[in-house]
Amino acid sequence: MNSIWEKRMPLAAGLISHSAQGYLGCHTPGHKQGRGALPEWRRLLGDRVFQLDLTELPGLDNLHDSQGIIREAEEAAAAYFGARRTFFLINGATAGILAVIMAKSRPGSKVVLPRTSHQAVIHGLILSGAQPVYLPVRSSAELGLPGHVTEAELNACLAGLGEEALVVLLHPNYYGLAGEMRGQVAAARRHNCAVLADEAHGAHFCTSSLFPIPALEAGADFAVQSAHKVLGSFTQTAFLHCRLENDLERVRELLRIVQSSSPSYLLMASLDAARCQCQTGKEGWEAAARLGEKLRLRISRLPGVLAPGEELLQTPGAAEYDPTRLVVNISGLRITGFEAAEWLRRRRKILVEMADLQNLVFILGPADGEQEADILLEGLGAMAASCSAGGCKERRGHPDPLRLPVPRQAMTPRDAFFAPHSPVEWEHACGKIAAELIAPYPPGTPVICPGEMIREEALDFLKEWEAAGGVWPGKSRGAIKIVTGS
Ligand SMILES: Cc1ncc(COP(=O)(O)O)c(C=O)c1O
Repeated sequence: MNSIWEKRMPLAAGLISHSAQGYLGCHTPGHKQGRGALPEWRRLLGDRVFQLDLTELPGLDNLHDSQGIIREAEEAAAAYFGARRTFFLINGATAGILAVIMAKSRPGSKVVLPRTSHQAVIHGLILSGAQPVYLPVRSSAELGLPGHVTEAELNACLAGLGEEALVVLLHPNYYGLAGEMRGQVAAARRHNCAVLADEAHGAHFCTSSLFPIPALEAGADFAVQSAHKVLGSFTQTAFLHCRLENDLERVRELLRIVQSSSPSYLLMASLDAARCQCQTGKEGWEAAARLGEKLRLRISRLPGVLAPGEELLQTPGAAEYDPTRLVVNISGLRITGFEAAEWLRRRRKILVEMADLQNLVFILGPADGEQEADILLEGLGAMAASCSAGGCKERRGHPDPLRLPVPRQAMTPRDAFFAPHSPVEWEHACGKIAAELIAPYPPGTPVICPGEMIREEALDFLKEWEAAGGVWPGKSRGAIKIVTGS
């Protein structure tokens, strides 16, 4: 028991040990540990990838009923993140969100959620048949950033419901802004409601007190984290942490429904490594947080550009922010974030995580240092200079999805989604019941959800969004699906 794998990463250790046995593999996957792969592909990726891309073989456990090395790795993650039980996810945070919503709600029961929830949450409602109660979220007029629901707002909503519900909270949002998590959880507790935290962007919060409070520490019952977004694990990997013993069996059953029966061992082992890296990587994360704060100051000195720090907390409902989520507001340059992102890509080979109408969002992490910071600063400086030299267009007003009133829910998302439906052109959709989700991306805030009466304001918003260069999945169809006969 000497290697780093054996000491710290049980799942990775199991795969390495298996591959050292020299078995003749007559099983899936068909690349047969590389022998059956396209030689050029194998050379490109290297032999190790194929040797470790294994399946449920003796000694390698089974994700859907983990009792061996996968369970050991999940237990190491649970111990680190402060959970009673952690499940490894290989279909992203999406899989965890779907499973918990189905475990904790049923047809007709209530799920309380901010209107800024990710589409995965709405998809969970379609699957479970629950009735959504959307909480309006306000945005900051200055920065164009979505905020959070306050404890008082959540409390008032739950008091008015008169029944237990599942509460889904976004912690943090795409811009790294977190709400009063402890207060929101306390409000849910007062009304006997379970809390699912969509912590897709916060898998690193456990590493240091420089980050917002982790959702489990704030008392959430479930927290789902897209490890792949910020940690060093592969795309599609995520953690579902359950704080209590309750519902574990039901959640496990539901994960079996929403996840592949052939989960990738490479993905799962990368979660084992990511947990290990968090555990040993406090310094790196703290350095990234400090770099983020330093960069904010330097970027904000550029003309027409603001990288808000403490100013973020003026956003309605915001209580904390993630210093490694660097938001750069470029509205002073009189260009959109989409245009700014394109400029950086073409002229400086810099790719942003996200752009919206007024902002660029960069994700920083332990991999970034002074060199990366200098490149970013130089790129933003050159872009600002090119704009003030007259290269940029007049800026128009910005459509804000959060100003839209929450529409009337005519049917549950599930009933609308499965009802007979037909496409209608946008101009004829007003007053009809939507059979699909329209969420301009980024940041993916729903403008129309299934089961809602489509309002004129939503259609006007989409027109404005499109005119400003914004997109949404399904836009190219030129029509929206509505419940037939509505
Ligand atoms: C807030 C939020 N929740 C959930 C998800 C889904 O995560 P995943 O892509 O890991 O399934 C995302 C993805 O972008 C997200 O931004």
